[in-house]
Amino acid sequence: MKILLTGGCGFIGSAVVRHIIRSTNHSVLNVDKMTYAASEEALEDVGSDSRYAFLKADIADGTAMNKAFESFQPDAVMHLAAESHVDRSIDGPGQFIQTNIVGTFTLLEAARKYWLSLGKEAQKRFRFHHISTDEVFGALDVNDPPFTETTPYDPRSPYSASKAGSDHLVSAWFHTYGFPAFITNTTNNYGIWHFPEKLIPLVTINAIEGKPLPVYGNGTNMRDWLFVLDHAEALVKAVEIGEPGETYAIGARQPRTNLEVVKTICSILDELAPSAKGKHDSLIEFVTDRPGHDFRYEIDPQRAEKALDWKAKHNFEAGIRKTVQWYLDHKDWWQKIREKNYKGQRLGTTK
Ligand code: NAD
Ligand code: TYD
Repeated sequence: MKILLTGGCGFIGSAVVRHIIRSTNHSVLNVDKMTYAASEEALEDVGSDSRYAFLKADIADGTAMNKAFESFQPDAVMHLAAESHVDRSIDGPGQFIQTNIVGTFTLLEAARKYWLSLGKEAQKRFRFHHISTDEVFGALDVNDPPFTETTPYDPRSPYSASKAGSDHLVSAWFHTYGFPAFITNTTNNYGIWHFPEKLIPLVTINAIEGKPLPVYGNGTNMRDWLFVLDHAEALVKAVEIGEPGETYAIGARQPRTNLEVVKTICSILDELAPSAKGKHDSLIEFVTDRPGHDFRYEIDPQRAEKALDWKAKHNFEAGIRKTVQWYLDHKDWWQKIREKNYKGQRLGTTK
């Protein structure tokens, strides 16, 4: 299968590209604008493979997208390109509207134009796979049942609202034009090559460097954690067998409070990289809460596991140990980011 994949230099996109090149026969054209979140190094191992090609372009550039479809002639699209960080969406929502909504619209139109030009059989086989988040469903309370494919949309941050907007466009293109698109909504990912603005890489790096570990509010907010390499496998299964018009709610049944997550990272580091200054959890600092902070996200993945014949291989403890070890082994990568791109300062306070 020839896959046009957007956002392949990002955290999840690069895991998908590596999985495609290493473990399947598919070929991939990676379309990426190379924002602050992109990392060329994440693809170093697979970048010279003859089944891999790269195009630096903005998904909101219709002319570039039309050209990409005409020249690559894909059988499927995996659309991961997005602005992805909630705190940045609080500071500057405009870029989230531009990439996540206008960009997705532009990509859908280029894909639909190309799809209409195909023969009947190729049209039937074509798939547009939109990668989205469970944050579009809003926030759960402690005793609410987890999200499923039928949970109503209730986005509450500029990020989740922009992703919900893009999901609605994808559904509308299916219902209105018969365009063979489907959506996967997934829980919080963590793992290797994760840009150090999100909780897990930020806290891991700060702890390694002996810096304060900022926990928003009282640390009881909950997220449901999926190891990125498990997610990559699920996404490739989905593009291979996903049905038009469907949504798949993907997760690993690993809910943890933020404080549990931070303490687990600290205790792994106490073991792998003990500090002369004492236990790493002494660095924890409770800081002012995120504005509009969603309390809890969690997915019941039962239906997607069955439909995609997939199950996450890592529980949180196994995945986080690999992740912490990886950050210890890849200081060059994150130290460069800390020097040039993002120093780890607090984002998204509305001040
Ligand atoms: P990321 O921020 O790490 O990477 C995004 C990538 O998209 C970058 O390489 C960036 O350069 C590229 N990009 C951004 N704007 C672009 C544009 N206009 N044109 C072309 N490329 C552009 O994001 P991620 O964490 O890998 O997330 C990938 C997708 O998965 C997103 O759609 C996100 O909403 C979704 N998702 C993420 C998570 C998570 O926990 N990270 C969970 C569920 C769903
Ligand atoms: P984050 O990694 O930004 O993902 P999302 O907001 O998309 O779930 O945040 C995960 C959780 O961690 C969320 O409840 C906010 C919290 N958080 C902190 O407590 N401290 C931090 O420094 C960051 C970045 C997040």
